[in-house]
Amino acid sequence: MHGLFQSRLPRIVVLASGNGSNFQTIAEKSISGKLGAQIECLIVDRECFALERALKLGIESHILKKPWYEDFERVTDEIAPDLIVLAGFMRIIPENMVKKYFPRIVNIHPSLLPAFPGKDGINQAFEYGVKITGITIHFVDSGVDTGPIIFQKAIEVDEKWTLNELEERIHKLEHEHYWRIIRKILYEPYKIEGRKVLWGV
Ligand code: GRF
Repeated sequence: MHGLFQSRLPRIVVLASGNGSNFQTIAEKSISGKLGAQIECLIVDRECFALERALKLGIESHILKKPWYEDFERVTDEIAPDLIVLAGFMRIIPENMVKKYFPRIVNIHPSLLPAFPGKDGINQAFEYGVKITGITIHFVDSGVDTGPIIFQKAIEVDEKWTLNELEERIHKLEHEHYWRIIRKILYEPYKIEGRKVLWGV
């Protein structure tokens, strides 16, 4: 995990619980050099498809032991990453970790926050019948999907789309933008004033 000769690149960990398509895109951009960061480890809280992706990509992975939050703290502190990237991690980050790492934990959510936080954001928006939805990338605070917003992208919902079609579009947006925003956080100056993320200051 923590080699003797550390890379000069920023080091990140990615946390996932499921499919891992966002992890895969970030990992591919890391491997191709476009991300400008090295993924030290994929951390998961359960057996999931993301693990298979990590194996194929040659990225180290770790399944959290119970209680997950203690193991999460231990593993993360040991790696001491520059950024913790949540990509479909289905747990709330404990207060002590938020305090220790803020603003170095980021999350992606598949709706335009503060609309439709929590689970199944895409389905919630679809069922609500919104005409516009999108994605939000934000710093993680101790609430559920409440941290300062870094980036949002909206799309218009075509009335003819099925839930699956909307999901596909949302995931495409996520894959297009998450890695770019991660790179931006790692390389461009910003400050956080209250809820506002201000760039270039
Ligand atoms: C994404 O829609 C993300 O916004 C949400 O969980 C989903 C994870 O998808 N937080 P995947 O596991 O990256 O395919």
